[in-house]
Amino acid sequence: MASAVTFSLGAKILCLTLCLLSLCCSAFTPQDYSNALEKSILFFEGQRSGKLPNNQRLSWRGNSGLSDGSSYHVDLVGGYYDAGDNVKFGLPMAFTTTLLAWSVIEFGDSMHSQIDNAKAAVRWSTDYLLKAATATPGTLYVQVADPNMDHRCWERPEDMDTPRNVYKVSTQNPGSDVAAETAAALAAASIVFKDSDSPYSAKLLHTAMKVFDFADKYRGSYSDSLGSVVCPFYCSYSGYHDELLWGASWIHRASQNSSYLAYIKSNGHTLGADDDDYSFSWDDKRPGTKVLLSKSFLEKNDEEFQLYKSHSDNYICSLIPGTSTFQAQYTPGGLLYKASESNLQYVTSASLLLLTYAKYLSLNGGVATCGSSKITAETLISEAKKQVDYILGDNPAKMSYMVGFGYKFPQHVHHRGSSLPSVHQHPGRLGCNDGFQYLNSGSPNPNVLVGAVVGGPDSKDNFADDRNNYQQSEPATYINAPFVGALAFFSAQKG
Ligand SMILES: *[C@@H]1O[C@H](CO)[C@@H](O)[C@H](O)[C@H]1NC(C)=O
Repeated sequence: MASAVTFSLGAKILCLTLCLLSLCCSAFTPQDYSNALEKSILFFEGQRSGKLPNNQRLSWRGNSGLSDGSSYHVDLVGGYYDAGDNVKFGLPMAFTTTLLAWSVIEFGDSMHSQIDNAKAAVRWSTDYLLKAATATPGTLYVQVADPNMDHRCWERPEDMDTPRNVYKVSTQNPGSDVAAETAAALAAASIVFKDSDSPYSAKLLHTAMKVFDFADKYRGSYSDSLGSVVCPFYCSYSGYHDELLWGASWIHRASQNSSYLAYIKSNGHTLGADDDDYSFSWDDKRPGTKVLLSKSFLEKNDEEFQLYKSHSDNYICSLIPGTSTFQAQYTPGGLLYKASESNLQYVTSASLLLLTYAKYLSLNGGVATCGSSKITAETLISEAKKQVDYILGDNPAKMSYMVGFGYKFPQHVHHRGSSLPSVHQHPGRLGCNDGFQYLNSGSPNPNVLVGAVVGGPDSKDNFADDRNNYQQSEPATYINAPFVGALAFFSAQKG
Protein backbone atom coordinates (compact mmCIF):
# COMPACT_ATOMS: atom_id res chain seq x y z
CA MET A 1 0.00 0.00 0.00
CA ALA A 2 2.75 2.37 1.04
CA SER A 3 4.52 2.05 -2.25
CA ALA A 4 1.26 2.56 -4.13
CA VAL A 5 0.70 5.78 -2.19
CA THR A 6 4.23 6.91 -2.92
CA PHE A 7 3.80 6.07 -6.57
CA SER A 8 0.54 7.93 -6.76
CA LEU A 9 2.05 10.97 -5.02
CA GLY A 10 4.98 10.84 -7.43
CA ALA A 11 2.60 10.52 -10.34
CA LYS A 12 0.67 13.52 -9.07
CA ILE A 13 3.78 15.66 -8.80
CA LEU A 14 4.88 14.51 -12.24
CA CYS A 15 1.47 15.27 -13.66
CA LEU A 16 1.34 18.64 -11.97
CA THR A 17 4.71 19.52 -13.46
CA LEU A 18 3.73 18.27 -16.89
CA CYS A 19 0.37 19.98 -16.72
CA LEU A 20 1.97 23.27 -15.73
CA LEU A 21 4.50 22.89 -18.50
CA SER A 22 1.87 22.03 -21.04
CA LEU A 23 -0.41 24.87 -19.92
CA CYS A 24 1.91 27.29 -21.60
CA CYS A 25 1.54 25.53 -24.95
CA SER A 26 -1.33 23.20 -25.32
CA ALA A 27 -4.32 21.74 -23.61
CA PHE A 28 -3.64 18.43 -25.32
CA THR A 29 -0.70 16.15 -25.96
CA PRO A 30 0.08 14.46 -29.28
CA GLN A 31 -1.30 11.28 -27.66
CA ASP A 32 -4.60 13.05 -27.00
CA TYR A 33 -4.86 13.98 -30.66
CA SER A 34 -3.97 10.41 -31.69
CA ASN A 35 -6.66 9.13 -29.39
CA ALA A 36 -9.19 11.57 -30.85
CA LEU A 37 -8.06 10.64 -34.38
CA GLU A 38 -8.72 6.96 -33.74
CA LYS A 39 -12.17 7.79 -32.38
CA SER A 40 -13.01 10.18 -35.19
CA ILE A 41 -12.56 7.32 -37.67
CA LEU A 42 -14.28 4.74 -35.48
CA PHE A 43 -17.42 6.88 -35.61
CA PHE A 44 -17.91 5.94 -39.27
CA GLU A 45 -18.52 2.33 -38.25
CA GLY A 46 -21.60 3.50 -36.38
CA GLN A 47 -22.94 5.04 -39.60
CA ARG A 48 -22.48 1.94 -41.73
CA SER A 49 -25.36 0.60 -43.74
CA GLY A 50 -25.27 -2.90 -45.23
CA LYS A 51 -23.65 -6.11 -44.09
CA LEU A 52 -21.09 -5.46 -41.39
CA PRO A 53 -17.70 -7.19 -41.71
CA ASN A 54 -16.17 -9.45 -39.05
CA ASN A 55 -13.75 -6.75 -38.01
CA GLN A 56 -16.52 -4.27 -37.16
CA ARG A 57 -15.39 -2.63 -33.92
CA LEU A 58 -18.51 -0.67 -32.92
CA SER A 59 -20.12 -3.93 -31.92
CA TRP A 60 -23.55 -2.65 -30.85
CA ARG A 61 -24.48 -2.16 -34.53
CA GLY A 62 -25.87 -4.93 -36.75
CA ASN A 63 -26.62 -5.44 -40.43
CA SER A 64 -29.17 -3.13 -42.02
CA GLY A 65 -30.58 -2.10 -45.36
CA LEU A 66 -29.71 -5.47 -46.87
CA SER A 67 -32.29 -5.18 -49.63
CA ASP A 68 -31.69 -1.53 -50.49
CA GLY A 69 -32.31 -1.12 -54.22
CA SER A 70 -33.78 -4.60 -54.72
CA SER A 71 -37.28 -3.44 -55.59
CA TYR A 72 -35.65 -1.42 -58.37
CA HIS A 73 -33.46 -4.38 -59.38
CA VAL A 74 -30.27 -2.62 -58.43
CA ASP A 75 -27.84 -3.36 -55.64
CA LEU A 76 -27.60 -0.32 -53.41
CA VAL A 77 -26.53 -2.11 -50.26
CA GLY A 78 -23.88 -0.34 -48.20
CA GLY A 79 -22.80 3.24 -47.78
CA TYR A 80 -23.41 5.53 -44.82
CA TYR A 81 -26.38 6.99 -43.02
CA ASP A 82 -25.70 10.71 -43.00
CA ALA A 83 -26.43 11.58 -39.40
CA GLY A 84 -28.93 10.50 -36.74
CA ASP A 85 -31.44 8.98 -39.15
CA ASN A 86 -31.48 6.00 -41.51
CA VAL A 87 -31.48 7.72 -44.89
CA LYS A 88 -28.67 7.37 -47.39
CA PHE A 89 -28.37 10.84 -48.91
CA GLY A 90 -26.03 10.93 -51.90
CA LEU A 91 -24.86 14.55 -51.78
CA PRO A 92 -23.56 14.62 -48.20
CA MET A 93 -22.25 11.04 -48.52
CA ALA A 94 -20.17 12.00 -51.53
CA PHE A 95 -18.93 15.19 -49.87
CA THR A 96 -18.03 13.24 -46.73
CA THR A 97 -16.03 10.87 -48.90
CA THR A 98 -14.21 13.67 -50.70
CA LEU A 99 -13.16 15.24 -47.40
CA LEU A 100 -12.19 11.94 -45.78
CA ALA A 101 -10.06 11.22 -48.84
CA TRP A 102 -8.59 14.73 -48.73
CA SER A 103 -7.73 14.18 -45.06
CA VAL A 104 -5.85 11.01 -46.02
CA ILE A 105 -4.17 12.62 -49.04
CA GLU A 106 -2.77 15.57 -47.08
CA PHE A 107 -2.27 14.08 -43.62
CA GLY A 108 -2.26 10.30 -44.09
CA ASP A 109 1.50 10.29 -43.40
CA SER A 110 0.67 11.34 -39.85
CA MET A 111 -1.99 8.71 -39.29
CA HIS A 112 0.35 5.81 -38.40
CA SER A 113 -1.71 2.95 -36.94
CA GLN A 114 -4.92 4.59 -38.13
CA ILE A 115 -4.17 4.75 -41.84
CA ASP A 116 -5.85 1.43 -42.63
CA ASN A 117 -8.93 2.35 -40.63
CA ALA A 118 -9.10 5.67 -42.48
CA LYS A 119 -8.84 3.93 -45.84
CA ALA A 120 -11.52 1.44 -44.81
CA ALA A 121 -13.79 4.38 -43.93
CA VAL A 122 -13.26 5.84 -47.41
CA ARG A 123 -13.80 2.49 -49.09
CA TRP A 124 -17.05 1.78 -47.26
CA SER A 125 -18.41 4.76 -49.11
CA THR A 126 -16.69 4.37 -52.48
CA ASP A 127 -17.85 0.75 -52.81
CA TYR A 128 -21.37 2.09 -52.56
CA LEU A 129 -20.80 5.12 -54.79
CA LEU A 130 -19.34 2.86 -57.49
CA LYS A 131 -22.51 0.78 -57.45
CA ALA A 132 -24.70 3.88 -57.49
CA ALA A 133 -22.79 5.27 -60.45
CA THR A 134 -22.48 2.16 -62.59
CA ALA A 135 -25.67 0.13 -62.02
CA THR A 136 -27.63 1.70 -64.87
CA PRO A 137 -26.07 3.61 -67.79
CA GLY A 138 -27.05 7.27 -67.93
CA THR A 139 -28.21 7.17 -64.32
CA LEU A 140 -26.79 7.97 -60.92
CA TYR A 141 -28.64 6.67 -57.89
CA VAL A 142 -28.54 9.47 -55.36
CA GLN A 143 -30.63 8.47 -52.38
CA VAL A 144 -32.20 5.53 -50.59
CA ALA A 145 -35.23 6.14 -48.35
CA ASP A 146 -37.91 8.77 -48.19
CA PRO A 147 -36.69 11.08 -45.42
CA ASN A 148 -40.18 12.32 -44.59
CA MET A 149 -41.28 8.78 -43.81
CA ASP A 150 -38.03 7.91 -42.08
CA HIS A 151 -38.30 10.93 -39.81
CA ARG A 152 -41.76 9.89 -38.64
CA CYS A 153 -40.19 6.93 -36.86
CA TRP A 154 -37.51 6.55 -34.21
CA GLU A 155 -36.16 3.18 -35.24
CA ARG A 156 -32.89 1.30 -35.20
CA PRO A 157 -31.44 0.87 -38.70
CA GLU A 158 -31.51 -2.88 -38.07
CA ASP A 159 -35.32 -2.78 -37.64
CA MET A 160 -36.39 -0.15 -40.09
CA ASP A 161 -39.51 -0.89 -42.10
CA THR A 162 -40.05 2.52 -43.65
CA PRO A 163 -40.08 2.74 -47.46
CA ARG A 164 -36.64 2.31 -48.93
CA ASN A 165 -37.49 4.28 -52.05
CA VAL A 166 -34.68 4.80 -54.48
CA TYR A 167 -34.06 8.18 -56.15
CA LYS A 168 -31.91 8.87 -59.15
CA VAL A 169 -30.76 11.54 -61.54
CA SER A 170 -30.66 10.91 -65.27
CA THR A 171 -30.20 12.65 -68.59
CA GLN A 172 -33.83 13.83 -68.40
CA ASN A 173 -33.70 14.79 -64.72
CA PRO A 174 -30.12 15.89 -64.26
CA GLY A 175 -28.28 16.54 -61.04
CA SER A 176 -24.94 18.13 -61.83
CA ASP A 177 -24.47 19.00 -58.15
CA VAL A 178 -24.74 15.48 -56.77
CA ALA A 179 -23.08 13.91 -59.82
CA ALA A 180 -20.07 16.24 -59.82
CA GLU A 181 -19.66 15.77 -56.07
CA THR A 182 -19.74 12.02 -56.63
CA ALA A 183 -17.06 12.46 -59.30
CA ALA A 184 -14.98 14.49 -56.83
CA ALA A 185 -15.33 11.75 -54.20
CA LEU A 186 -14.32 8.96 -56.59
CA ALA A 187 -11.38 10.96 -57.94
CA ALA A 188 -10.09 11.93 -54.49
CA ALA A 189 -10.44 8.33 -53.32
CA SER A 190 -8.50 7.13 -56.37
CA ILE A 191 -5.50 9.04 -54.98
CA VAL A 192 -5.94 7.33 -51.60
CA PHE A 193 -5.75 3.86 -53.18
CA LYS A 194 -3.20 4.63 -55.88
CA ASP A 195 -0.34 2.73 -54.25
CA SER A 196 -2.13 0.21 -52.07
CA ASP A 197 -4.72 -1.03 -54.60
CA SER A 198 -4.04 0.29 -58.05
CA PRO A 199 -6.78 -1.64 -59.91
CA TYR A 200 -9.36 -0.24 -57.49
CA SER A 201 -7.85 3.21 -57.84
CA ALA A 202 -8.03 3.02 -61.63
CA LYS A 203 -11.66 1.95 -61.46
CA LEU A 204 -12.48 4.87 -59.17
CA LEU A 205 -10.79 7.35 -61.48
CA HIS A 206 -12.34 5.95 -64.61
CA THR A 207 -15.80 6.07 -63.01
CA ALA A 208 -15.15 9.60 -61.75
CA MET A 209 -14.49 10.75 -65.31
CA LYS A 210 -17.66 9.14 -66.59
CA VAL A 211 -19.80 10.59 -63.83
CA PHE A 212 -18.25 14.00 -64.33
CA ASP A 213 -18.97 13.86 -68.04
CA PHE A 214 -22.60 13.06 -67.23
CA ALA A 215 -22.74 15.92 -64.68
CA ASP A 216 -21.32 18.40 -67.15
CA LYS A 217 -23.24 17.34 -70.26
CA TYR A 218 -26.65 17.16 -68.63
CA ARG A 219 -26.78 20.23 -66.52
CA GLY A 220 -29.25 20.95 -63.78
CA SER A 221 -29.77 20.80 -60.06
CA TYR A 222 -31.12 17.66 -58.45
CA SER A 223 -33.34 19.84 -56.28
CA ASP A 224 -35.45 20.57 -59.36
CA SER A 225 -36.61 17.01 -59.90
CA LEU A 226 -36.12 15.60 -56.39
CA GLY A 227 -37.04 18.61 -54.27
CA SER A 228 -39.72 16.78 -52.31
CA VAL A 229 -37.18 14.31 -50.90
CA VAL A 230 -33.89 16.21 -50.88
CA CYS A 231 -35.24 19.55 -49.62
CA PRO A 232 -34.97 20.95 -47.06
CA PHE A 233 -32.55 18.25 -45.94
CA TYR A 234 -29.84 18.51 -48.58
CA CYS A 235 -31.28 20.94 -51.05
CA SER A 236 -28.66 22.26 -53.44
CA TYR A 237 -28.98 25.89 -52.34
CA SER A 238 -25.72 26.95 -53.97
CA GLY A 239 -26.61 25.35 -57.31
CA TYR A 240 -24.30 23.07 -59.26
CA HIS A 241 -21.59 25.36 -60.63
CA ASP A 242 -19.48 24.99 -57.52
CA GLU A 243 -19.57 21.18 -57.74
CA LEU A 244 -18.63 21.17 -61.44
CA LEU A 245 -15.46 23.15 -60.76
CA TRP A 246 -14.69 21.10 -57.65
CA GLY A 247 -15.23 17.82 -59.52
CA ALA A 248 -13.00 18.88 -62.42
CA SER A 249 -10.34 20.04 -59.96
CA TRP A 250 -10.28 16.71 -58.17
CA ILE A 251 -10.09 14.75 -61.40
CA HIS A 252 -7.28 17.01 -62.51
CA ARG A 253 -5.44 16.43 -59.25
CA ALA A 254 -5.98 12.66 -59.50
CA SER A 255 -5.25 12.18 -63.19
CA GLN A 256 -3.06 15.13 -64.22
CA ASN A 257 -5.01 14.78 -67.47
CA SER A 258 -4.75 18.01 -69.45
CA SER A 259 -8.41 17.90 -70.57
CA TYR A 260 -9.41 18.79 -67.01
CA LEU A 261 -6.83 21.53 -66.83
CA ALA A 262 -8.29 22.95 -70.01
CA TYR A 263 -11.78 22.60 -68.57
CA ILE A 264 -10.82 24.51 -65.42
CA LYS A 265 -9.13 27.23 -67.44
CA SER A 266 -12.02 27.75 -69.81
CA ASN A 267 -14.92 27.29 -67.36
CA GLY A 268 -13.50 28.57 -64.07
CA HIS A 269 -14.84 32.09 -64.44
CA THR A 270 -18.39 30.98 -65.15
CA LEU A 271 -18.27 28.34 -62.41
CA GLY A 272 -17.42 30.58 -59.45
CA ALA A 273 -13.67 31.13 -59.63
CA ASP A 274 -14.13 34.87 -59.10
CA ASP A 275 -16.57 34.67 -56.19
CA ASP A 276 -15.59 35.18 -52.63
CA ASP A 277 -17.46 32.97 -50.36
CA TYR A 278 -16.71 32.09 -46.78
CA SER A 279 -18.60 28.95 -46.01
CA PHE A 280 -17.36 25.50 -46.99
CA SER A 281 -19.95 22.76 -46.61
CA TRP A 282 -21.76 19.83 -48.26
CA ASP A 283 -23.64 22.49 -50.23
CA ASP A 284 -20.96 25.00 -51.21
CA LYS A 285 -17.59 23.84 -52.47
CA ARG A 286 -16.11 27.17 -53.57
CA PRO A 287 -13.60 27.79 -50.74
CA GLY A 288 -12.37 24.18 -50.96
CA THR A 289 -11.86 24.47 -54.71
CA LYS A 290 -9.83 27.67 -54.28
CA VAL A 291 -7.50 26.01 -51.81
CA LEU A 292 -7.21 22.84 -53.87
CA LEU A 293 -6.32 24.76 -57.03
CA SER A 294 -4.00 27.18 -55.27
CA LYS A 295 -1.58 24.25 -54.99
CA SER A 296 -1.01 24.40 -58.75
CA PHE A 297 -0.05 28.04 -58.51
CA LEU A 298 2.12 27.62 -55.44
CA GLU A 299 3.90 24.59 -56.85
CA LYS A 300 4.20 25.37 -60.50
CA ASN A 301 3.72 29.11 -60.48
CA ASP A 302 1.13 28.68 -63.21
CA GLU A 303 -0.20 32.22 -63.70
CA GLU A 304 -3.63 30.96 -64.64
CA PHE A 305 -4.06 29.73 -61.10
CA GLN A 306 -2.99 32.87 -59.30
CA LEU A 307 -6.66 33.72 -59.11
CA TYR A 308 -7.30 30.71 -56.90
CA LYS A 309 -4.46 31.63 -54.58
CA SER A 310 -5.84 35.18 -54.21
CA HIS A 311 -9.30 33.90 -53.39
CA SER A 312 -7.85 31.36 -50.97
CA ASP A 313 -6.13 34.27 -49.26
CA ASN A 314 -9.44 36.10 -49.09
CA TYR A 315 -11.07 33.08 -47.51
CA ILE A 316 -8.26 32.69 -44.98
CA CYS A 317 -8.21 36.43 -44.20
CA SER A 318 -11.92 36.33 -43.47
CA LEU A 319 -11.14 33.93 -40.62
CA ILE A 320 -8.17 35.71 -39.05
CA PRO A 321 -9.12 38.37 -36.50
CA GLY A 322 -7.24 41.62 -36.89
CA THR A 323 -6.83 41.50 -40.65
CA SER A 324 -8.51 44.23 -42.67
CA THR A 325 -10.83 41.74 -44.38
CA PHE A 326 -11.72 39.76 -41.27
CA GLN A 327 -15.40 38.98 -41.25
CA ALA A 328 -16.08 35.75 -39.38
CA GLN A 329 -18.08 35.48 -36.20
CA TYR A 330 -16.56 33.84 -33.13
CA THR A 331 -18.24 32.93 -29.85
CA PRO A 332 -16.91 34.61 -26.69
CA GLY A 333 -15.02 31.37 -26.04
CA GLY A 334 -13.37 31.56 -29.47
CA LEU A 335 -15.34 29.09 -31.60
CA LEU A 336 -15.98 29.91 -35.24
CA TYR A 337 -19.71 30.41 -35.50
CA LYS A 338 -21.65 30.15 -38.77
CA ALA A 339 -25.08 28.73 -38.04
CA SER A 340 -27.31 27.57 -35.23
CA GLU A 341 -27.72 24.14 -36.76
CA SER A 342 -24.80 21.75 -36.90
CA ASN A 343 -22.30 24.59 -36.55
CA LEU A 344 -19.31 22.33 -35.96
CA GLN A 345 -19.43 21.15 -39.58
CA TYR A 346 -18.20 24.62 -40.58
CA VAL A 347 -15.54 24.56 -37.89
CA THR A 348 -14.08 21.19 -38.87
CA SER A 349 -14.17 21.97 -42.60
CA ALA A 350 -12.53 25.39 -42.03
CA SER A 351 -9.87 23.69 -39.88
CA LEU A 352 -9.01 21.27 -42.68
CA LEU A 353 -8.75 24.15 -45.16
CA LEU A 354 -6.54 26.19 -42.80
CA LEU A 355 -4.17 23.28 -42.30
CA THR A 356 -4.14 22.25 -45.95
CA TYR A 357 -3.46 25.78 -47.07
CA ALA A 358 -0.77 26.11 -44.41
CA LYS A 359 0.83 22.99 -45.85
CA TYR A 360 0.73 24.27 -49.43
CA LEU A 361 2.10 27.65 -48.34
CA SER A 362 4.92 26.28 -46.27
CA LEU A 363 6.03 23.80 -48.91
CA ASN A 364 6.53 26.77 -51.15
CA GLY A 365 7.58 29.48 -48.73
CA GLY A 366 4.40 31.39 -49.44
CA VAL A 367 2.25 33.59 -47.23
CA ALA A 368 -1.38 34.67 -47.35
CA THR A 369 -1.86 38.33 -48.13
CA CYS A 370 -4.59 40.14 -46.23
CA GLY A 371 -4.62 43.78 -47.28
CA SER A 372 -1.26 45.09 -46.15
CA SER A 373 -0.50 42.23 -43.79
CA LYS A 374 1.18 38.92 -44.49
CA ILE A 375 -0.20 35.88 -42.73
CA THR A 376 2.11 32.94 -42.29
CA ALA A 377 1.41 29.23 -42.23
CA GLU A 378 2.07 29.26 -38.45
CA THR A 379 -0.83 31.67 -37.94
CA LEU A 380 -3.15 29.40 -39.91
CA ILE A 381 -2.04 26.41 -37.88
CA SER A 382 -2.57 28.19 -34.58
CA GLU A 383 -6.04 29.30 -35.68
CA ALA A 384 -6.94 25.73 -36.62
CA LYS A 385 -5.53 24.50 -33.32
CA LYS A 386 -7.80 26.82 -31.35
CA GLN A 387 -10.79 25.39 -33.15
CA VAL A 388 -9.74 21.77 -32.78
CA ASP A 389 -8.90 22.27 -29.10
CA TYR A 390 -12.21 23.97 -28.47
CA ILE A 391 -14.05 20.96 -29.90
CA LEU A 392 -12.01 18.57 -27.78
CA GLY A 393 -12.79 20.38 -24.52
CA ASP A 394 -10.64 23.51 -24.25
CA ASN A 395 -13.69 25.77 -23.99
CA PRO A 396 -15.70 27.69 -21.37
CA ALA A 397 -17.99 24.72 -20.70
CA LYS A 398 -14.94 22.42 -20.30
CA MET A 399 -16.83 19.99 -22.44
CA SER A 400 -15.67 17.79 -25.27
CA TYR A 401 -17.99 17.78 -28.25
CA MET A 402 -16.59 14.46 -29.39
CA VAL A 403 -18.53 11.57 -27.92
CA GLY A 404 -16.33 9.25 -25.86
CA PHE A 405 -13.42 11.70 -25.67
CA GLY A 406 -12.45 13.42 -22.41
CA TYR A 407 -14.30 13.48 -19.10
CA LYS A 408 -17.41 15.33 -20.10
CA PHE A 409 -19.05 14.79 -23.48
CA PRO A 410 -22.60 14.68 -24.91
CA GLN A 411 -24.69 11.85 -23.48
CA HIS A 412 -27.97 12.43 -25.29
CA VAL A 413 -26.85 12.30 -28.89
CA HIS A 414 -29.63 12.69 -31.46
CA HIS A 415 -29.00 9.37 -33.17
CA ARG A 416 -31.47 6.54 -33.54
CA GLY A 417 -29.08 3.61 -33.25
CA SER A 418 -27.10 5.07 -30.37
CA SER A 419 -30.17 6.04 -28.34
CA LEU A 420 -32.09 2.76 -28.67
CA PRO A 421 -31.05 -0.51 -27.03
CA SER A 422 -28.66 -2.47 -29.22
CA VAL A 423 -30.04 -5.35 -31.29
CA HIS A 424 -27.70 -7.59 -29.29
CA GLN A 425 -29.18 -6.44 -25.94
CA HIS A 426 -32.74 -6.29 -27.19
CA PRO A 427 -33.17 -8.65 -30.16
CA GLY A 428 -36.95 -8.14 -30.33
CA ARG A 429 -38.15 -5.66 -32.91
CA LEU A 430 -38.71 -2.06 -31.91
CA GLY A 431 -41.24 -0.64 -34.35
CA CYS A 432 -41.62 2.87 -35.72
CA ASN A 433 -43.34 4.32 -32.67
CA ASP A 434 -41.69 2.12 -30.06
CA GLY A 435 -38.59 4.25 -30.22
CA PHE A 436 -40.05 7.57 -29.15
CA GLN A 437 -39.94 6.69 -25.44
CA TYR A 438 -36.15 6.45 -25.88
CA LEU A 439 -35.92 9.65 -27.88
CA ASN A 440 -37.78 11.49 -25.13
CA SER A 441 -36.16 9.82 -22.16
CA GLY A 442 -33.70 11.69 -19.95
CA SER A 443 -31.35 8.71 -19.78
CA PRO A 444 -27.98 8.74 -21.52
CA ASN A 445 -27.71 6.91 -24.83
CA PRO A 446 -27.14 3.22 -24.11
CA ASN A 447 -24.70 2.78 -27.03
CA VAL A 448 -21.78 5.17 -27.11
CA LEU A 449 -21.30 6.47 -30.64
CA VAL A 450 -17.57 6.79 -30.05
CA GLY A 451 -15.91 9.60 -31.94
CA ALA A 452 -19.04 11.38 -33.13
CA VAL A 453 -18.69 15.15 -33.17
CA VAL A 454 -22.10 16.70 -32.57
CA GLY A 455 -23.61 19.94 -33.89
CA GLY A 456 -22.11 21.82 -30.96
CA PRO A 457 -22.72 24.93 -28.87
CA ASP A 458 -24.58 28.11 -29.75
CA SER A 459 -23.19 31.57 -30.39
CA LYS A 460 -22.69 32.10 -26.64
CA ASP A 461 -20.87 28.80 -26.04
CA ASN A 462 -23.95 27.20 -24.50
CA PHE A 463 -24.78 23.60 -25.23
CA ALA A 464 -27.94 21.75 -24.29
CA ASP A 465 -27.24 18.04 -24.00
CA ASP A 466 -30.75 17.24 -25.14
CA ARG A 467 -31.66 14.51 -27.64
CA ASN A 468 -34.49 16.54 -29.09
CA ASN A 469 -32.21 19.48 -29.78
CA TYR A 470 -30.91 18.06 -33.04
CA GLN A 471 -29.37 21.39 -34.03
CA GLN A 472 -26.79 20.85 -31.27
CA SER A 473 -26.83 17.16 -30.43
CA GLU A 474 -26.87 15.44 -33.82
CA PRO A 475 -23.66 14.07 -35.32
CA ALA A 476 -23.05 13.90 -39.08
CA THR A 477 -20.50 12.19 -41.29
CA TYR A 478 -19.46 15.52 -42.83
CA ILE A 479 -18.69 16.99 -39.40
CA ASN A 480 -16.19 14.19 -38.76
CA ALA A 481 -14.65 13.74 -42.20
CA PRO A 482 -12.51 16.92 -42.26
CA PHE A 483 -11.77 16.54 -38.56
CA VAL A 484 -9.93 13.29 -39.33
CA GLY A 485 -7.29 15.21 -41.29
CA ALA A 486 -6.98 17.99 -38.71
CA LEU A 487 -6.51 15.52 -35.86
CA ALA A 488 -3.92 13.58 -37.85
CA PHE A 489 -1.98 16.80 -38.34
CA PHE A 490 -1.92 17.69 -34.65
CA SER A 491 -1.17 14.13 -33.55
CA ALA A 492 2.14 14.44 -35.38
CA GLN A 493 3.11 17.86 -33.94
CA LYS A 494 5.79 17.84 -31.31
CA GLY A 495 4.82 19.76 -28.16
C1 LIG B 1 -8.16 12.57 -70.49
O1 LIG B 1 -9.53 12.83 -70.23
C2 LIG B 1 -10.36 12.81 -71.37
C3 LIG B 1 -11.73 13.27 -70.95
O2 LIG B 1 -12.27 12.42 -69.96
C4 LIG B 1 -10.33 11.43 -72.01
O3 LIG B 1 -11.12 11.43 -73.16
C5 LIG B 1 -8.91 11.03 -72.32
O4 LIG B 1 -8.87 9.70 -72.75
C6 LIG B 1 -8.03 11.18 -71.09
N1 LIG B 1 -6.63 10.97 -71.44
C7 LIG B 1 -5.88 10.07 -70.83
C8 LIG B 1 -4.46 10.01 -71.28
O5 LIG B 1 -6.29 9.35 -69.92
